[in-house]
Amino acid sequence: MNQDSLKKATADAAMEYILPSLEKNTVIGVGTGSTANYFIDALAQYRNDFDGCVASSEASTQRLKAHNIPVYDLNSVDNIPFYIDGADEVNSSLQLTKGGGGALTREKIVAVVAKEFVCIADESKKVATLGSFPLPVEVIPMARSHVGRELVNLGGDPSYREGVITDNGNVILDVWNLTITDPVSLEQAINNITGVVSNGLFALKPADILFLGEKTGVRKVVSE
Ligand code: A5P
Repeated sequence: MNQDSLKKATADAAMEYILPSLEKNTVIGVGTGSTANYFIDALAQYRNDFDGCVASSEASTQRLKAHNIPVYDLNSVDNIPFYIDGADEVNSSLQLTKGGGGALTREKIVAVVAKEFVCIADESKKVATLGSFPLPVEVIPMARSHVGRELVNLGGDPSYREGVITDNGNVILDVWNLTITDPVSLEQAINNITGVVSNGLFALKPADILFLGEKTGVRKVVSE
C-alpha cells in the first residue's frame, strides 16, 4: 500500500470506530489535512446518521459543505463526542506535532472541546521523539520578530512561513532543530511567549486513541 492508501485505511478505521456511537443529534469534530480529507469523504456516506460537524479550518468546512454535511460554529455546540484529525508526528504517549497545514489553533480548540481525540496517521508519522518535523507556532503578525527571538532562546531555529496567513489572520513560524524530550513543558513555555496564539504541540492534551496505518494493516494504539 502507498502512503495515500494507508491514510485512507486509517480514516476508514476511525469511521468504523465512531459509527456505533452516532445518533441523529451527534456533532463530530473534524480536522484538517490530507488524512482528515479521507475521513470527511468516509463521513459523507453516513450523512443521514448524524447531525453535522464542527470544522478546524475553512478548507475542511468547504469539503464538508461540498458533501452537503452541515457545519456548525463551535459556539453553538456544547457536546462533541469525537474529534478526528491527522498529525505531523506522533510519539508513544500519543503526543503530537500538528500544524503543517497551518490550522493548528482551530485544531487545538476543537480537540480540547471534544470528549475523545481520535488521531489518524500513516506509519511515517510515528516517531520516538518529537521535533524532526519543524514545530509550527501561530503568531500575531506584529509580534513575529519578538517571538522569533524568544524561540531562539528556547533552543529552536524559527523560520517565517512566507506568504501564509492563517484562518485567524495570523502568521506562522516553523521552529526547526528542536529535540522535544519534554513536550508538555515546551508547549507551556511557547504558550507563555507574548504574541503567540498557539503552538503545534498537542501534549497537554494528547490524542486519546491512534489508528496507525502500517503496511500490515491499521493498528489501534492507546497511550503507553
Ligand atoms: C493541519 O494543520 C495539520 O495539523 C494536519 O493535521 C497535519 O499536518 C497532517 O496532515 P496530513 O494528513 O496531510 O499529513
